Amino acid sequence: MNILDIIEKKRDKKELTKEEIEYFVKGYTDGSISDYQAAALVMAIFINGMSKKETTDLTIAMAHSGEILDLSKLNKIIVDKHSTGGVGDKVSIILLPLVASVGVPVAKMSGRGLGFTGGTVDKLESIPGYQTGVDIHNFVKNVENIGISIISQTLNLAPADKKIYALRDSISCVESIPLIASSIMSKKIASGAQKIVLDVTVGSGAFMENIENAEKLSREMIEIGKLSNRETICVLTNMDEPLGYSVGNSLEVIEAIKFLKGEMIEDVSQVVLELGAYMLKLSGIGNDINKNKKLLLENIQNGKGYNKFLELVKNQGGDISYIENTEKFTKAKYIEPIYSDKKGYLKEINAKEVGKIAGNLGAGRIKKEDKIDSSVGIILNKKVGDKIEKNEIIAYIHANQKEKLETAKKQLKNIILIVPTKVEKLQSIIKVIK
Ligand code: URA
Repeated sequence: MNILDIIEKKRDKKELTKEEIEYFVKGYTDGSISDYQAAALVMAIFINGMSKKETTDLTIAMAHSGEILDLSKLNKIIVDKHSTGGVGDKVSIILLPLVASVGVPVAKMSGRGLGFTGGTVDKLESIPGYQTGVDIHNFVKNVENIGISIISQTLNLAPADKKIYALRDSISCVESIPLIASSIMSKKIASGAQKIVLDVTVGSGAFMENIENAEKLSREMIEIGKLSNRETICVLTNMDEPLGYSVGNSLEVIEAIKFLKGEMIEDVSQVVLELGAYMLKLSGIGNDINKNKKLLLENIQNGKGYNKFLELVKNQGGDISYIENTEKFTKAKYIEPIYSDKKGYLKEINAKEVGKIAGNLGAGRIKKEDKIDSSVGIILNKKVGDKIEKNEIIAYIHANQKEKLETAKKQLKNIILIVPTKVEKLQSIIKVIK
C-alpha cells in the first residue's frame, strides 16, 4: 500500500477501504507520511466527502492512534460534552462545573481555537497558573477526588486528531461533515466517554451554516456513537450572533464566572440548561428534562456550581484570587466604545465576522505557533432584537495595539445592521436529535 495511491483514489471520488484509512492515520501520526501528502488527502476528503463507512473507519482509526482511557474504576457513568465550535462559546466553562456540582463526573478533553472559533483550553489558560497539560494519572485522580478535570489534548489520546485538526486549520479544511464528525467522536471515544451530549452549532458563526447540514452532521455522529456503543444526543443551537456578550479569552472567562455567580445571560442560560439537562438524563439522574434544569438552576442560586469551578481551578494550579475578584485579570490597553449612528432595532451582528475581528485583535491564531493575547476581544452591549437609540454604545473593543484597534472599529461598524422595525430575538435552542 502507498499514500500516493490512496490520495489518487480519493481525488477520483472512490471509496477508501478500512485498511487504507488505517494506513494513512498510522503513517501520519508516526511521521512517515508528510504534511503535504496528508494535506492533499485531507483536501480531497474535504472536496469529495466520505461515505458513512469511511467516516466511521476514520473515527475508529483516529481514536485508536493513541491510548484509550479506561474510566471504569470511577464506577460512574461518564457523560461527556463537546461543541462543534462557535463565537463567544463559554458554555463548557459554566456547564461542566455545574453538572459536576450535581454529581455527574466530568473528565473533559477540550480543544484550542479553530478557524474563527475560540477554544476552551485557550480560555482557561487565561487564568494565571491553570495547567491544561495534565498527565493521564493526574487527570483520572482529579476526577476521582473532586469530580472534574478539564485538560487539553496533551495526553496520548487521539494524537492523529490533534495533528489532522491543526493541519485542517492551516489549509482551510475545517467545515467538512466527515472531518468534524470523526474529529469529535474519536476524541470522545479515546477519552473514555460512555455517553455523549453534543452542542451542534448552526449559523454564521458555526461550521454548519444551515440546519440541513447540522442535522446531517448530527446523524453521522449519533450513528458513530451507536456503532461504538456510546449513546449520543445532539442539541442544535443558534450561532448567528455571538453567544452571550463577550468574545475573547479572559473576557469570556469573566462572563462565565459572573454567570456562575448568578448573573445569568438569557441565550447562554438556555444553552447551558438544555445541554446540562440532557447530561443529567444520560448520567441516570433523571429523565425529566424540566426537573433537571431546575436542579441545575438551584446549583447556580446556592453557589454550588461556582464553588465547584473554584475547586477545579485550584486543583489545576490556577490562581483563584482571579476568580474571586475578576478585576485582577489584565485589561487591554485600549477599551473603546462603538456608537450607533441611528436609532432602531439590532437586526444582525454576524458571529463569524465578530470571531474574525476578535482573532485579528489577537484573541485567535493566524498561524499554529502564534501566541494568544488573552485580554483582547469584543464586548457587545446589545443583542439581536434590542432597541437602540442614536449614539448609544453597541459594543466595546478591547485592543492592545492602536492600529489593530482602528481596523477593528471600522470592521465592527460595517457588520452591525440596525433597522427601523421591531426585530424578534433569536431562539437559542433549535432542536434536539437523539
Ligand atoms: N471541534 C472538534 O473537536 N473538531 C472539529 O473538527 C470541529 C470542532
